[in-house]
Amino acid sequence: MSFELTFIGHAALGLTTGGCELLIDPYLHNNPTANLSPDSVEADYILISHGHGDHIGDAVEIAKRTGATIISNAEICGWLRKKDLKVHPQHLGGGHTFPFGYLKLTLALHGSILPDGSYGGNPAGFLLTTNDGEKIYMAGDTGLFGDMRLIGDEGVNLAVIPIGDNYTMGPADALRAVKLLTPEHVIPIHYNTFDLIKQDANAWAKEVQSETDAKVHVLAPGEKFVYP
Ligand code: NI
Ligand code: MN
Repeated sequence: MSFELTFIGHAALGLTTGGCELLIDPYLHNNPTANLSPDSVEADYILISHGHGDHIGDAVEIAKRTGATIISNAEICGWLRKKDLKVHPQHLGGGHTFPFGYLKLTLALHGSILPDGSYGGNPAGFLLTTNDGEKIYMAGDTGLFGDMRLIGDEGVNLAVIPIGDNYTMGPADALRAVKLLTPEHVIPIHYNTFDLIKQDANAWAKEVQSETDAKVHVLAPGEKFVYP
């Protein structure tokens, strides 16, 4: 097994690879779709894409209990360091080798203010190259941008992208994103958590699969995707 990705709900993901447990944007407690509790979840690393409450989520509480290292942009890491948490700051375009692979922060078109109004720097996505060389692109909250083609050039095995509309790409732009990213597999996220981002993911999956070579996996909260 090279990696196992769990859709926790909304934009929260669990990822097991290289013998490490990662949590991405662990919004659990107030998340109407997640059925995982912040006081039981395990993590070696927590990745935070941007400062919004539905992404920072329960990261502070989980990091305190587990001792996990939080990886995010420098501004968010500075804010977390004041809470005595272990952090690893990076910035857009910069990568670093961790025990679980090589992680690069990517562009995301969005905002990033923190829950207390502090400046959260630029929002980001993540491009992870696992120790076995597989590439996972987790777009974070973003609108469509043409440089997704550059990310696609790296050869993406799995793309995790928002389709909810209103705050992020909607289904039509997410389809265009798949055409730029040309991933082998796609998992849609950031939809159906609230009425405002209600989407028919199965209809979107059908459309993507008829217009591209990507295989779409619509996961229910708690469901896993195992690669290869
Ligand atoms: Ni956001
Ligand atoms: Mn969001």
